Amino acid sequence: MINKAPIGVFDSGVGGLTVVKEIMNQIPGEDIIYFGDTARLPYGSKSKKTVITYTRQIVRFLMNKDIKAIVIACNTASAFALETVKSEVDIPVIGVVKPGAKLAASTTQNGRIGIIGTEGTIQSGIYSEFLREINPKIKVYGKACPLFVPLVEEGLADDSVTFEMAKRYIGLLLEKHIDTLVLGCTHYPLLRETIRKVVGEDIVLVNPAYETAKALLDVLRDQGLRNDSTPKLNHKFYVSDGAEKFRQFANTILPCEVMETKDINIEELG
Ligand code: DGL
Repeated sequence: MINKAPIGVFDSGVGGLTVVKEIMNQIPGEDIIYFGDTARLPYGSKSKKTVITYTRQIVRFLMNKDIKAIVIACNTASAFALETVKSEVDIPVIGVVKPGAKLAASTTQNGRIGIIGTEGTIQSGIYSEFLREINPKIKVYGKACPLFVPLVEEGLADDSVTFEMAKRYIGLLLEKHIDTLVLGCTHYPLLRETIRKVVGEDIVLVNPAYETAKALLDVLRDQGLRNDSTPKLNHKFYVSDGAEKFRQFANTILPCEVMETKDINIEELG
């Protein structure tokens, strides 16, 4: 029996589309319902309490769409709200942090890993926690990069301003002789080229989105939820503000065409 229900994915903005792209590539045949909380972005500078409140509203909105699994495609919301959501819904919930930590731990050769993310993610210490669980000898160096998200949202990923900021943020991690750098915010894979210019060729850039899609596939298979038939896909995209801007951005990232994005009032609906 094939479970044709969609998968719910959300982020504070466009960043989660980097995860959607991986899901579409690795798990074809699944419908996706995406919500980007563009009106309330950034999450990275907000308190845990606020991020949990926002997350609960979004989860309620997605659950009303009869989804079969939830992907929290936001590191900050994964760091602050994953356990809460897991305890409140009866469908599988996947965050991006654990899969990212797993991949980084298996990548590093010298045991020195850098993490870049929002203030919330870095201050939560969640990557260090997971990495040390996997291997207590690993040394973790975190750096919050608060300007990266607005630069991405403004379409300035390849701008010289972004390059200068990347040098300033990541330079500090390079001094620690890391050999692996985790892009610990779903917006950051969109800065990959710029970050690559700063770190050079010898440091491995880890994108948790790839491993997250793999983890989702495992869960869908294990729980008999995988839909690998090829129906006519009907992905749906919702945001809390700026639907048309989001739609255009999505079309620069995703492998399919986004024809429509709907603006909704998440505080009323969620
Ligand atoms: N994309 C989000 C993350 O992965 C953060 C963006 C924001 O600060 O809202 O943490």
